Amino acid sequence: MFSTLTSSLIAFWCLSTMTSATPFSYDNNPLKNNFPTPSNDQIKAIETQAHGSLPNTAPPATAQQNTLTSLRLIAFNELFEVAFFAELIANITNNVDGYKINDVSTKKSVLASLIAIQAQEELHTLDANNALKHFKTDPIQPCHYDFPVSNLNDAIGLASTFTDMALGVLQDVQSQLGSDGDIGLIRGVGAIIGQEGEQNGLFRQFGNKIPSALPFLTTSTRDFTFSAINQNFVVPNSCPNINVIDLKIFSPLTVDSETLKSLQQNPKPTTLKFSFQLPLGGPKPEWGSDWTGLKLAYINQQNIPVTENLHNVKVNTDTVSFEAPFLFDAATFGNGLTIAAVASASADFSSPDNIAKAPVVFGPGLIEVN
Ligand SMILES: *[C@@H]1O[C@H](CO)[C@@H](O)[C@H](O)[C@H]1NC(C)=O
Repeated sequence: MFSTLTSSLIAFWCLSTMTSATPFSYDNNPLKNNFPTPSNDQIKAIETQAHGSLPNTAPPATAQQNTLTSLRLIAFNELFEVAFFAELIANITNNVDGYKINDVSTKKSVLASLIAIQAQEELHTLDANNALKHFKTDPIQPCHYDFPVSNLNDAIGLASTFTDMALGVLQDVQSQLGSDGDIGLIRGVGAIIGQEGEQNGLFRQFGNKIPSALPFLTTSTRDFTFSAINQNFVVPNSCPNINVIDLKIFSPLTVDSETLKSLQQNPKPTTLKFSFQLPLGGPKPEWGSDWTGLKLAYINQQNIPVTENLHNVKVNTDTVSFEAPFLFDAATFGNGLTIAAVASASADFSSPDNIAKAPVVFGPGLIEVN
């Protein structure tokens, strides 16, 4: 009797630590399968939950350094996604405030989808880390994570946004693999892209959107996606080997939530407000007293980035706020994911890759419409 009570108290305590605002960590085996280093039997169980297997085809014999960077980014991204879905499933299962689904059959079907998605993300992680091991380099280890949501609708909305960022960056990864000649890995990345797109159809419908956002999904770059994950989810200094990932973490660009919400509720040409932190030492001389040395870029769909000047710039202590038009057009601009970034006006704004190479970049600000 006593031992049953004690073990249920312990079980309760474990669940409650998982669902509190304590950062998520894999340290105490929250998934109960030793992920991210499961045994072969545990992998079999994950595959069953995922409705399918890790590829049994071997990666090519060698890979370029730049390809290792892409594989590290994929592992880094998938590790945080698994953490997110594990925490979300626990929140729903335990009826945490804001996560209670009253209708029993809805709760069952949402959980069934999320459990498969979590297992599929686990296999994506293992696939990338196995490839790194195959290329005789260290796998990526997980960080601790904090998710900026506290209810089901916001959580699924966030899942849709970070999935869009993954769908964007995997285009960049495929294109890098092609230019580096590592074509043996392109097909598998394509298999993940379609898979993540299927997931996003579920997330979007949950948010009362149509399942397919755009004819041609918004592209991203490795630096923008790596920055977004670090800025939004990673507990600073909690990643054992993030230093091996040769990508940039930009300073954040915040999209004002009120102006964004009104755009989302009523998509039409409008003005958005943004802010960023002044770097140490204050504004750079080349930004100019009228701020024309900086420009805002919007990356949307497969189109040439749209640029705008910074209007009504105000400096309050070390926060710079400004306004910029967002010229929504249902046919040509602003549906789905738009990635906003402030960059040196001297930069080449002809492509997302070139914007990410600018001397100064604040971003990505993430805008989702429809
Ligand atoms: C789970 O719920 C806790 C408590 O509200 C919250 O802090 C955390 O962000 C939630 N996690 C997810 C992934 O929704």
